[in-house]
Amino acid sequence: MQFYDVIENRVSVKQFKNTPIDKDSLARAINSAMRSPSWKNNTSYKFILVDDPREKDMLAESIINDTNEAEMAVKQAPMVAVVVGDPAKSGVMENKEYYLVDGAIAMEHFMLAATNEGYGTCWIGSLDEDKVRQALNIPSNYKVVAMTPVGESAREFHHNDKKDVREYVFLNKWGDSYTETYS
Ligand SMILES: Cc1cc2nc3c(=O)[nH]c(=O)nc-3n(C[C@H](O)[C@H](O)[C@H](O)COP(=O)(O)O)c2cc1C
Repeated sequence: MQFYDVIENRVSVKQFKNTPIDKDSLARAINSAMRSPSWKNNTSYKFILVDDPREKDMLAESIINDTNEAEMAVKQAPMVAVVVGDPAKSGVMENKEYYLVDGAIAMEHFMLAATNEGYGTCWIGSLDEDKVRQALNIPSNYKVVAMTPVGESAREFHHNDKKDVREYVFLNKWGDSYTETYS
């Protein structure tokens, strides 16, 4: 897939077929995640790939503030990727904890690569950290950053509305809109 097609094709997928993930595709997606930048190259994150239905069910039960969609997605998908981060291995600047950034970049690399491999994903952040920790034996120094189901989408999903660039991108000064378009 061309790069911009990958960007365009990544949408939050919430219904999955349970067809297993191709091993080479998964290895390429994980390799892409591990190419991501991180604070001082400390790689403060770790991935846990979960394909055991028992652990997947426990992950589904850890989801909070949900309309059941994310829970079902985690149960249906053949795999769930969980990203955790060790705050002590990353930095803090002006109260901003960069382990979250390290983990988020790695997760986004993974999700884009999974899209390129033909798989759907959905970032899930609304979770009960202790339940995830217990389900997967995560050591107490690691915080849970996010998880995503990974698998073949069961139907077509479309992007949620994206915002007007002029309101969200400024040139030089706050409020001076960037207005370039492309052909
Ligand atoms: C930090 C973050 C947390 C999110 N948490 C959840 C979540 O807990 N449950 C869920 O269903 N979607 C979650 N999403 C997915 C967003 O709702 C989704 O990305 C957004 O609506 C845009 O849709 P799109 O991904 O199809 O472009 C999260 C996304 C981000 C970036």
